[in-house]
Amino acid sequence: RKKTSRPLPPGPAGWPLIGNLLEFPTHGAWLTFTDLSKKYGDIILMNILGSQMIILNSAKTVTDFLEKKSAISSDRPHLTMACDLAGWKKLLTFQQYSERFRQYRKFFHRQLGSRNSLATFYSVEEDETRQFLCNVLQDPDDLAAHIRRTAGAIILKISHGYSVKDGDDPFVELADKSMANFSLVATPGVFLVDHVPVLRHLPEWFPGAGFLRDAKQWRKLVTETATKPHKFVLEQLAKGNMAPSFTSRLLEEGVTPEEDILMWASFSMYLGGSDTTVSAIYAFFLAMTIHPEVLTTAQAEVDTIIGTERLPTFEDRDSLPYVNAICKEILRWNVVALLSTAFTDYEIFEGYFIPKGSMVSANIWYILHNEDTYPEPEVFRPERFLGDNVQPDPHDACYGYGRRYE
Ligand code: HEM
Repeated sequence: RKKTSRPLPPGPAGWPLIGNLLEFPTHGAWLTFTDLSKKYGDIILMNILGSQMIILNSAKTVTDFLEKKSAISSDRPHLTMACDLAGWKKLLTFQQYSERFRQYRKFFHRQLGSRNSLATFYSVEEDETRQFLCNVLQDPDDLAAHIRRTAGAIILKISHGYSVKDGDDPFVELADKSMANFSLVATPGVFLVDHVPVLRHLPEWFPGAGFLRDAKQWRKLVTETATKPHKFVLEQLAKGNMAPSFTSRLLEEGVTPEEDILMWASFSMYLGGSDTTVSAIYAFFLAMTIHPEVLTTAQAEVDTIIGTERLPTFEDRDSLPYVNAICKEILRWNVVALLSTAFTDYEIFEGYFIPKGSMVSANIWYILHNEDTYPEPEVFRPERFLGDNVQPDPHDACYGYGRRYE
């Protein structure tokens, strides 16, 4: 009674029963949320057919809610389309803050949790980057394809010890298709069945049940994308020539091949690392094309510190401040993952009542484009991160918040 006496967060009024269903954005949600935040403030509530969605639009509210209250805000919403219909249930992203989640986390921590463990993968990244530069030099018109291939090559080598083929690679293609599907099914509000789960029991032939037929196709695609690279590692293991990778190291540590958590942990890595890096590298080329003066300054730094006889390596990173500032500005300017979504138990927050079971979405895009924090946010300006008055490091926001990412 005491809790419900607090007001709910403000937000657009909506309609009886359906709430904000008609105005809930299914595309460009971060922009709609940003506009709403200018009208209603940093904490907004939207209601879709009775499901509550809280949108947090500032670094302070996100940190206070998702980090300081991480004990009650580290679960994930159960999206019926993604988890029950389209086959994504076992992906790390959809795990509740459960024993299984902690097991995935242990795997990631052991293999990637320190600078030293990450360093074991540097040679893969450097070799593939050299190959990438040769490919771009030979065939500059196909830049986007070279970027996708390189990102796929690096992550598949790290996750499964797999070397991608020249030209179109079947595993890279599967990852691309799966990622496109993931982006669709992981966005709350796109599928009505996420808000009215009983719709999943409609017969497939029923008018409007096309989503069930789509889900069947997607389930096949997701299973194939998860199992094929895993089978590849097991075949290599049987032949006695398994290349070192995230999967092979866990097998060597005693995780048995039958444990499906192994396959899904590696798949989560391979998926998490493919499209994100592609987006960041696309943004780098776009930024350098529209800001040649930034490229000139960066090239001058590389020429002065490294010289012209060799390519930079990871070891040079700390001595290239301008290049590092470009990397930060890429992740701010072109936010890769625009929203981060958690699921929460009820709580009083900033004087508002947050209903049990609300989805909480952090508007990462706006946090990194707020004009008070980053003046002229749409301008690509690496100098933000250099000199005396540096602006906040985008790394604190762009990889997500809370206990899952610390
Ligand atoms: C530009 C690079 C990257 C960016 C900006 C980025 C950003 C993010 C963000 C914002 C989330 C949280 C999404 C949410 O809360 O809904 C996330 C989750 C995740 N990322 Fe990344 N990521 C990047 C690269 C990678 C790479 C290279 C890997 C793998 C090696 C990876 C693996 C994952 C995994 C497994 C999750 C899910 C974690 C969980 O749900 O607990 N990411 N990433």
